Amino acid sequence: MNESRIRTLLGRAVRLAARGHGGAEPNPMVGCVIVDAHGEVVAEGFHRRCGGPHAEVDALAAAGERARGGTAIVTLEPCAHRGRTGPCTDALRAAGVARVLYAVADPNPLAAGGGAQLSASGIQAELFPHDGARELALPFVKRVQTGLPWISAKWAQSIDGAIALANGDSKWLSCARSRHMVHRERGRVDAILTGIGTVIADDPQLTARGVRVHRQAMRVVFDPALRTPPEARICDASAPTVILASESLDAAATQRANQLVARGVRILRLGAGDTMRAPLAALAKEGVARVLVEAGGGVVGRLLREEILDEAWVFIVPFVIGDDLARRSVRGLTPAVLAAVARARLMSVRQRGTDALLHYRWTR
Ligand SMILES: NC(=O)c1ccc[n+]([C@@H]2O[C@H](COP(=O)([O-])OP(=O)(O)OC[C@H]3O[C@@H](n4cnc5c(N)ncnc54)[C@H](OP(=O)(O)O)[C@@H]3O)[C@@H](O)[C@H]2O)c1
Repeated sequence: MNESRIRTLLGRAVRLAARGHGGAEPNPMVGCVIVDAHGEVVAEGFHRRCGGPHAEVDALAAAGERARGGTAIVTLEPCAHRGRTGPCTDALRAAGVARVLYAVADPNPLAAGGGAQLSASGIQAELFPHDGARELALPFVKRVQTGLPWISAKWAQSIDGAIALANGDSKWLSCARSRHMVHRERGRVDAILTGIGTVIADDPQLTARGVRVHRQAMRVVFDPALRTPPEARICDASAPTVILASESLDAAATQRANQLVARGVRILRLGAGDTMRAPLAALAKEGVARVLVEAGGGVVGRLLREEILDEAWVFIVPFVIGDDLARRSVRGLTPAVLAAVARARLMSVRQRGTDALLHYRWTR
């Protein structure tokens, strides 16, 4: 198999892996393609749900005897440990695979070392770096290395960068197809983060509607002074709600906190300077792997300042607002020179209905 064929098959494995989004987490999304001894693709697989078979095992089950003497092409190093399922290294050995190519080394010290174990047992195991597989693994790598969830912001903005009119009106900027895509993503993440500015302006419910719900996302509100009205829709019983509030609250906020807690809302404390790292790390420990940010410029600006925002999905809608006082997609940053601004990488540009969808990631 030449390098270009391996790259093509890894691209296929990445696309398979992405189908696991919403089911696989907090495990990594992983895809696997098995080719036989003649280089023909005989099976494909991916990690569908946490606790279920890993991608290699899924693909090997489909390949059966045709895997013998063949090659497994996997987006992530096969695991070498027994978690809820057995080690993939054992499954690959038992299937008689002759060669294993994996695109990213496992960052999890508990599961790493699969490549070396396979080599030690006579299977030709090699790391074959692939950009798509590296990007795919980033959410998992970030959580293992920093203890923080993967944080994706989405917002709809006019051509001139406004997310709402000066009076807060923002319904609806984006087209129905774009909004449907956002609901699908809501049904695949563990938490949806917004800010008190948005709660007060829009009173959103932030639940996934009209789509398949793979997992129930908790609603998280950045609300330092705890201004969330206890009757806000975001505090309804349709999903759990967490409010991130400052350590010190005035008497009125303390009273609101008691009412909110009585409604089933959890309150987590922000760190010094109202930083979000500590409560987000605490949520990650509870299994929150993916956070979707649907907030105004205040929250997005804070996440960028704290250098914990990983990506943005920006819907550019065909309006020009043109008002100096219109709300901006990001605020609160004060760069002195352009060279100090963190540059994002443009990942993709697509059309969704009447909107353009730009996907950016920040490299850290
Ligand atoms: N088009 C879209 O996709 C979209 C999506 C969501 C929301 N929105 C719009 O966004 C608007 C709300 O935006 P927003 O920026 O006011 O609210 P936000 O991002 O939802 O929440 C941020 C809130 O945190 C507060 N805050 C406290 N300390 C802060 C600090 N140091 N830095 C930044 N914020 C801090 C802000 O208070 P202060 O106001 O006192 O700074 C602000 O109310 C609404 O009009 C909503 O309709 C649009």
